[in-house]
Amino acid sequence: MTDNLNIPPYKIKMVEPINLIPKKERQAALKRAGYNLFALRSEEVFIDLLTDSGTNAMSDNQWAGIMSGDESYAGSRNFFHLKDTVQDIFNYSYMVPAHQGRGAEQVLFPLLVDKDNYALSNMHFDTTKAHVELAGGKAKNFIIEEALNTDQYHPFKGNFDLNKMEKFIQTEGKNNISVIIITITCNSAGGQPVSMDNIRKVSSIAKKYDIPIIMDAARFAENAFFIKSREQGYEDKSIKDIIREMFSYTDAFTMSAKKDAIVNIGGMIGIKDDENLYNQIRSKTIPMEGFPTYGGLAGRDLEAISRGLQEGIQYPYLKHRINQISLLGKKLLDNQIPVQYPVGGHAVFVDAKKLLPHIPFNQFPAQALANELYLEGGIRGVEIGSLLLGRDPESKKQLKSPFEFLRLTIPRRVYTDAHLNFTAESLINIKSRIGQIKGLKFSYEPEILRHFTARLKPISS
Ligand code: F0G
Repeated sequence: MTDNLNIPPYKIKMVEPINLIPKKERQAALKRAGYNLFALRSEEVFIDLLTDSGTNAMSDNQWAGIMSGDESYAGSRNFFHLKDTVQDIFNYSYMVPAHQGRGAEQVLFPLLVDKDNYALSNMHFDTTKAHVELAGGKAKNFIIEEALNTDQYHPFKGNFDLNKMEKFIQTEGKNNISVIIITITCNSAGGQPVSMDNIRKVSSIAKKYDIPIIMDAARFAENAFFIKSREQGYEDKSIKDIIREMFSYTDAFTMSAKKDAIVNIGGMIGIKDDENLYNQIRSKTIPMEGFPTYGGLAGRDLEAISRGLQEGIQYPYLKHRINQISLLGKKLLDNQIPVQYPVGGHAVFVDAKKLLPHIPFNQFPAQALANELYLEGGIRGVEIGSLLLGRDPESKKQLKSPFEFLRLTIPRRVYTDAHLNFTAESLINIKSRIGQIKGLKFSYEPEILRHFTARLKPISS
């Protein structure tokens, strides 16, 4: 019975008020923000589904950990607790903290990526791609074809197309490939998981050609949950055993702890056993992030991460979370709103290409839909499509993203099913006027990572 009701395995001890400001004020706020939801003040947002990153609610146990922060510059006890936690969950010998995921990337990638060489991934996240490029490398994606078709079922749409990747390695030559990065879950494809079988096979290709292999581990626990629920042979394994097996196939990981470690800030690099790499990372961390036992974080943050990592791998917690998101997806699908199917781990990705076929990619249909949803219900989602993708660095032509998604990203332990039902109802309400929504053009277009600070305006037909 409790399964049908999806009862959260926690109760609420502290609350933060939210408020739906009147429609007229939302219209004025959106105009002032240059039709870019990143420029809103958070008080202007009722339900904030911009990201699941750093927006999580910590537990009483984590807050208690905050009070036991040891703020020593070097050798803080919370560092050693985190190191032991990483050993326990991932079976990795070394760990260096970083202030967040991209901090970890900025330290590790220049050590792994050679100039003009390739980094291969199922799909690079934006900051991961940026750090590959900053290191002088080239990012190449090998996601399976099924992932591009939002209504075709595949249990592991984050999988690599192994044949395509191996052919690429043979054509380019293994010496021109610096690293393979497995993004779990694959955020850019819709929070889609990678199967254990695929991880194992990617790892044997990496071994065969002697290429280092790392995990982009932001949503490692959600990926493990999907393996347990969808992959044959894993139904009776514990989440921790699944995680240990996943990470046994890779050499190192970068992690944004702002996701599955259920904290508001933090990240780290994990290294399986390569002491030499660990020493290089430690030296590089000092000028970038700080002394390698704190890496840009306070001792109290390290403690909250240790405790959050253990909470984030608990089966009842993961089951409730993934169910909550899949129920939102189901409600949308039942009302003929196309979403990436099956629904992934941290968000529902609405297929704006299908929903707004009258708006071409270079007028940003998912951004137009995001803005309309804000006007309708004060809900802030985020565009993952051509606006985010940007222009070709050489020709300066607008690139066409394979997806035009409106991502409704669910923070951990923050919103109830009532908030998510309201979100679904708001999108359903928009449907009747979908044909009237207008595309957008730039009034200000920054050169790099433009989607964060761009200003737009509706095209008046
Ligand atoms: N890798 C993945 C797969 C991510 O989703 C993110 C962040 C990062 C790395 C970088 O981590 O933000 O701690 O520096 N994703 C956030 C998002 C921002 O909204 O999806 P970070």
